[in-house]
Amino acid sequence: MAHFIVLLGPPGAGKGTQAKAISEALQIPHVSSGDIFREHLSKQTELGKLADGYIKCGQLVPDDVTIRMIGDRLKQPDCVNGALLDGFPRTLPQAEALDDFLAKMGASVNTVISLEVPAEVLVERLSGRWSCPTCGRVYHEKYNPPQQARICDNDGTPLIQRPDDQAETVRQRIEVYRSQTEPLIEYYRQKGVLVRVDGTQSIEAVKQEILTVLAGVQ
Ligand code: AP5
Ligand code: MG
Repeated sequence: MAHFIVLLGPPGAGKGTQAKAISEALQIPHVSSGDIFREHLSKQTELGKLADGYIKCGQLVPDDVTIRMIGDRLKQPDCVNGALLDGFPRTLPQAEALDDFLAKMGASVNTVISLEVPAEVLVERLSGRWSCPTCGRVYHEKYNPPQQARICDNDGTPLIQRPDDQAETVRQRIEVYRSQTEPLIEYYRQKGVLVRVDGTQSIEAVKQEILTVLAGVQ
Protein backbone atom coordinates (compact mmCIF):
# COMPACT_ATOMS: atom_id res chain seq x y z
CA MET A 1 0.00 0.00 0.00
CA ALA A 2 1.22 3.49 -0.87
CA HIS A 3 1.84 5.89 2.01
CA PHE A 4 1.09 9.53 1.44
CA ILE A 5 1.92 11.43 4.62
CA VAL A 6 1.47 15.17 5.07
CA LEU A 7 3.55 17.13 7.58
CA LEU A 8 1.54 20.15 8.59
CA GLY A 9 2.80 22.89 10.87
CA PRO A 10 3.77 26.55 11.06
CA PRO A 11 7.16 27.84 9.89
CA GLY A 12 9.81 26.48 12.24
CA ALA A 13 7.61 23.71 13.65
CA GLY A 14 10.22 21.11 12.69
CA LYS A 15 8.81 19.66 9.45
CA GLY A 16 12.15 19.58 7.64
CA THR A 17 13.95 18.34 10.77
CA GLN A 18 11.66 15.33 11.17
CA ALA A 19 11.38 14.53 7.47
CA LYS A 20 14.53 12.44 7.11
CA ALA A 21 13.63 9.89 9.80
CA ILE A 22 10.09 9.50 8.47
CA SER A 23 11.12 9.12 4.86
CA GLU A 24 13.74 6.53 5.86
CA ALA A 25 11.34 4.60 8.09
CA LEU A 26 8.65 4.38 5.41
CA GLN A 27 11.02 4.27 2.42
CA ILE A 28 9.25 7.14 0.69
CA PRO A 29 10.79 10.32 -0.74
CA HIS A 30 10.70 13.64 1.12
CA VAL A 31 8.86 16.15 -1.08
CA SER A 32 9.25 19.70 0.27
CA SER A 33 7.60 22.44 -1.78
CA GLY A 34 9.86 25.07 -0.17
CA ASP A 35 13.01 23.07 -1.04
CA ILE A 36 11.85 22.63 -4.65
CA PHE A 37 11.20 26.39 -4.98
CA ARG A 38 14.63 27.15 -3.51
CA GLU A 39 16.27 24.68 -5.91
CA HIS A 40 14.58 26.44 -8.82
CA LEU A 41 15.78 29.78 -7.49
CA SER A 42 19.38 28.56 -7.22
CA LYS A 43 19.15 27.50 -10.89
CA GLN A 44 17.49 30.84 -11.77
CA THR A 45 14.59 29.16 -13.60
CA GLU A 46 11.47 31.18 -14.46
CA LEU A 47 9.57 29.33 -11.73
CA GLY A 48 12.34 30.07 -9.23
CA LYS A 49 12.32 33.78 -10.02
CA LEU A 50 8.54 33.94 -9.79
CA ALA A 51 8.45 32.07 -6.46
CA ASP A 52 11.21 34.22 -4.98
CA GLY A 53 9.03 37.33 -5.26
CA TYR A 54 6.52 35.72 -2.90
CA ILE A 55 8.91 33.81 -0.63
CA LYS A 56 11.03 36.82 0.30
CA CYS A 57 8.02 38.72 1.61
CA GLY A 58 6.56 35.71 3.41
CA GLN A 59 3.58 35.23 1.07
CA LEU A 60 2.41 32.02 -0.55
CA VAL A 61 3.28 31.26 -4.16
CA PRO A 62 0.00 31.12 -6.17
CA ASP A 63 -1.92 27.84 -6.00
CA ASP A 64 -1.95 27.05 -9.74
CA VAL A 65 1.86 27.17 -10.01
CA THR A 66 2.40 25.26 -6.78
CA ILE A 67 -0.17 22.55 -7.54
CA ARG A 68 1.32 21.94 -11.00
CA MET A 69 4.84 21.70 -9.56
CA ILE A 70 3.90 19.17 -6.87
CA GLY A 71 1.72 17.19 -9.31
CA ASP A 72 4.75 16.83 -11.59
CA ARG A 73 6.91 15.74 -8.66
CA LEU A 74 4.40 13.10 -7.52
CA LYS A 75 4.33 11.64 -11.03
CA GLN A 76 8.01 10.69 -10.73
CA PRO A 77 8.62 6.93 -10.40
CA ASP A 78 10.11 7.23 -6.89
CA CYS A 79 6.66 8.27 -5.57
CA VAL A 80 4.96 5.05 -6.64
CA ASN A 81 4.93 3.81 -3.01
CA GLY A 82 3.97 7.20 -1.60
CA ALA A 83 5.66 10.39 -0.46
CA LEU A 84 6.21 12.52 2.60
CA LEU A 85 4.79 15.94 1.80
CA ASP A 86 6.38 18.81 3.73
CA GLY A 87 4.90 22.30 3.20
CA PHE A 88 2.22 21.13 0.77
CA PRO A 89 -0.75 21.46 0.88
CA ARG A 90 -0.94 24.91 2.46
CA THR A 91 -4.37 26.10 1.28
CA LEU A 92 -7.76 24.47 0.85
CA PRO A 93 -7.53 24.46 -2.98
CA GLN A 94 -4.13 22.74 -2.68
CA ALA A 95 -5.57 20.10 -0.34
CA GLU A 96 -8.47 19.45 -2.72
CA ALA A 97 -6.14 19.25 -5.70
CA LEU A 98 -3.99 16.72 -3.82
CA ASP A 99 -7.05 14.60 -3.04
CA ASP A 100 -8.08 14.63 -6.72
CA PHE A 101 -4.60 13.81 -7.87
CA LEU A 102 -4.19 10.88 -5.46
CA ALA A 103 -7.69 9.57 -6.21
CA LYS A 104 -6.64 9.21 -9.86
CA MET A 105 -3.74 7.04 -8.66
CA GLY A 106 -6.12 4.98 -6.50
CA ALA A 107 -4.52 6.47 -3.38
CA SER A 108 -5.35 9.03 -0.70
CA VAL A 109 -3.69 10.97 2.10
CA ASN A 110 -3.14 8.32 4.78
CA THR A 111 -1.94 10.39 7.73
CA VAL A 112 -1.51 14.08 8.47
CA ILE A 113 0.89 14.93 11.26
CA SER A 114 0.13 18.36 12.67
CA LEU A 115 3.23 19.62 14.49
CA GLU A 116 1.99 22.14 17.03
CA VAL A 117 4.33 24.86 18.32
CA PRO A 118 3.41 28.32 19.69
CA ALA A 119 4.48 31.46 17.82
CA GLU A 120 7.04 32.72 20.36
CA VAL A 121 9.04 29.47 20.06
CA LEU A 122 8.94 29.61 16.24
CA VAL A 123 10.71 32.98 16.02
CA GLU A 124 13.59 31.78 18.21
CA ARG A 125 13.93 28.56 16.24
CA LEU A 126 14.08 30.30 12.87
CA SER A 127 16.51 32.99 13.95
CA GLY A 128 18.98 30.26 15.01
CA ARG A 129 18.45 27.98 12.03
CA TRP A 130 21.24 27.12 9.60
CA SER A 131 20.59 24.94 6.52
CA CYS A 132 22.71 23.06 4.01
CA PRO A 133 22.15 24.42 0.49
CA THR A 134 23.34 21.10 -0.98
CA CYS A 135 21.44 18.38 0.92
CA GLY A 136 18.81 20.48 2.72
CA ARG A 137 19.74 19.23 6.20
CA VAL A 138 18.63 21.62 8.92
CA TYR A 139 20.56 22.66 12.07
CA HIS A 140 20.04 25.04 14.96
CA GLU A 141 22.93 26.88 16.61
CA LYS A 142 21.59 25.95 20.07
CA TYR A 143 19.22 22.97 19.72
CA ASN A 144 20.89 20.97 16.95
CA PRO A 145 24.39 22.30 16.19
CA PRO A 146 26.57 20.73 13.48
CA GLN A 147 29.79 19.02 14.66
CA GLN A 148 31.90 21.78 13.10
CA ALA A 149 30.49 25.32 13.30
CA ARG A 150 28.49 26.28 10.20
CA ILE A 151 29.58 23.20 8.17
CA CYS A 152 27.16 20.43 7.15
CA ASP A 153 27.88 17.10 8.92
CA ASN A 154 26.56 15.22 5.91
CA ASP A 155 28.52 16.72 3.02
CA GLY A 156 30.87 19.45 4.33
CA THR A 157 29.04 22.32 2.59
CA PRO A 158 29.12 25.71 4.39
CA LEU A 159 25.70 26.28 5.98
CA ILE A 160 23.51 29.26 5.11
CA GLN A 161 20.70 31.23 6.76
CA ARG A 162 17.47 31.60 4.79
CA PRO A 163 16.68 35.19 3.74
CA ASP A 164 13.04 34.67 4.79
CA ASP A 165 14.09 33.90 8.39
CA GLN A 166 14.42 37.55 9.41
CA ALA A 167 12.06 38.27 12.32
CA GLU A 168 9.74 40.53 10.31
CA THR A 169 9.27 37.98 7.49
CA VAL A 170 8.85 35.17 10.02
CA ARG A 171 5.97 37.07 11.65
CA GLN A 172 4.37 37.49 8.23
CA ARG A 173 4.79 33.75 7.47
CA ILE A 174 3.19 32.83 10.80
CA GLU A 175 0.27 35.12 10.01
CA VAL A 176 -0.16 33.53 6.57
CA TYR A 177 -0.07 30.10 8.23
CA ARG A 178 -2.80 31.08 10.70
CA SER A 179 -5.11 32.48 8.03
CA GLN A 180 -4.54 30.14 5.07
CA THR A 181 -3.07 26.85 6.30
CA GLU A 182 -4.49 26.28 9.78
CA PRO A 183 -7.99 25.58 8.37
CA LEU A 184 -6.51 22.40 6.90
CA ILE A 185 -6.33 20.96 10.43
CA GLU A 186 -10.12 20.86 10.49
CA TYR A 187 -10.27 19.63 6.88
CA TYR A 188 -8.12 16.59 7.72
CA ARG A 189 -9.70 16.05 11.15
CA GLN A 190 -13.03 15.59 9.41
CA LYS A 191 -11.46 13.02 7.10
CA GLY A 192 -10.22 11.11 10.16
CA VAL A 193 -6.53 11.22 9.19
CA LEU A 194 -5.25 13.95 11.53
CA VAL A 195 -2.75 13.26 14.31
CA ARG A 196 -1.65 16.14 16.53
CA VAL A 197 1.91 16.08 17.86
CA ASP A 198 3.37 18.43 20.47
CA GLY A 199 6.26 19.97 18.53
CA THR A 200 7.74 21.73 21.57
CA GLN A 201 9.31 18.49 22.82
CA SER A 202 12.96 17.70 22.03
CA ILE A 203 13.78 16.78 18.41
CA GLU A 204 14.31 13.15 19.49
CA ALA A 205 11.03 12.97 21.45
CA VAL A 206 9.05 14.40 18.50
CA LYS A 207 10.70 11.87 16.20
CA GLN A 208 9.82 8.94 18.47
CA GLU A 209 6.23 10.09 18.79
CA ILE A 210 5.81 10.42 15.02
CA LEU A 211 7.42 7.04 14.32
CA THR A 212 5.15 5.40 16.91
CA VAL A 213 2.08 7.00 15.33
CA LEU A 214 3.11 5.89 11.85
CA ALA A 215 3.90 2.35 12.98
CA GLY A 216 0.37 2.15 14.38
CA VAL A 217 -1.38 3.22 11.18
CA GLN A 218 0.59 1.14 8.68
P1 AP5 B 1 8.96 26.25 3.50
O1 AP5 B 1 10.35 26.02 3.10
O2 AP5 B 1 8.00 25.14 3.46
O3 AP5 B 1 8.98 26.93 4.92
P2 AP5 B 1 7.97 26.87 6.18
O4 AP5 B 1 6.73 26.09 6.05
O5 AP5 B 1 7.82 28.29 6.54
O6 AP5 B 1 8.69 26.02 7.18
P3 AP5 B 1 10.19 26.04 7.57
O7 AP5 B 1 11.01 25.29 6.57
O8 AP5 B 1 10.62 27.46 7.86
O9 AP5 B 1 10.12 25.29 8.97
P4 AP5 B 1 10.14 23.73 9.31
O10 AP5 B 1 8.86 23.35 9.91
O11 AP5 B 1 10.65 22.92 8.17
O12 AP5 B 1 11.20 23.77 10.49
P5 AP5 B 1 12.68 23.15 10.58
O13 AP5 B 1 12.62 21.67 10.65
O14 AP5 B 1 13.57 23.76 9.55
O15 AP5 B 1 8.32 27.42 2.62
C1 AP5 B 1 9.04 28.61 2.37
C2 AP5 B 1 8.22 29.51 1.47
O16 AP5 B 1 7.97 28.89 0.20
C3 AP5 B 1 6.81 29.88 1.99
O17 AP5 B 1 6.84 30.97 2.87
C4 AP5 B 1 6.08 30.19 0.68
O18 AP5 B 1 6.41 31.46 0.20
C5 AP5 B 1 6.67 29.16 -0.29
N1 AP5 B 1 5.89 27.92 -0.30
C6 AP5 B 1 6.30 26.69 0.12
N2 AP5 B 1 5.34 25.78 -0.02
C7 AP5 B 1 4.27 26.43 -0.55
C8 AP5 B 1 2.95 26.05 -0.89
N3 AP5 B 1 2.54 24.78 -0.72
N4 AP5 B 1 2.12 26.98 -1.39
C9 AP5 B 1 2.52 28.24 -1.59
N5 AP5 B 1 3.74 28.70 -1.25
C10 AP5 B 1 4.62 27.80 -0.73
O19 AP5 B 1 13.10 23.68 12.04
C11 AP5 B 1 13.30 25.07 12.29
C12 AP5 B 1 14.45 25.27 13.29
O20 AP5 B 1 14.06 24.74 14.56
C13 AP5 B 1 15.74 24.52 12.89
O21 AP5 B 1 16.83 25.31 13.26
C14 AP5 B 1 15.70 23.23 13.75
O22 AP5 B 1 16.99 22.75 14.06
C15 AP5 B 1 14.95 23.71 14.99
N6 AP5 B 1 14.09 22.67 15.59
C16 AP5 B 1 13.28 21.79 14.91
N7 AP5 B 1 12.63 20.99 15.80
C17 AP5 B 1 13.03 21.39 17.05
C18 AP5 B 1 12.71 20.93 18.38
N8 AP5 B 1 11.84 19.93 18.58
N9 AP5 B 1 13.32 21.55 19.41
C19 AP5 B 1 14.20 22.58 19.20
N10 AP5 B 1 14.55 23.03 17.97
C20 AP5 B 1 13.97 22.44 16.90
MG1 MG C 1 11.23 23.31 6.17
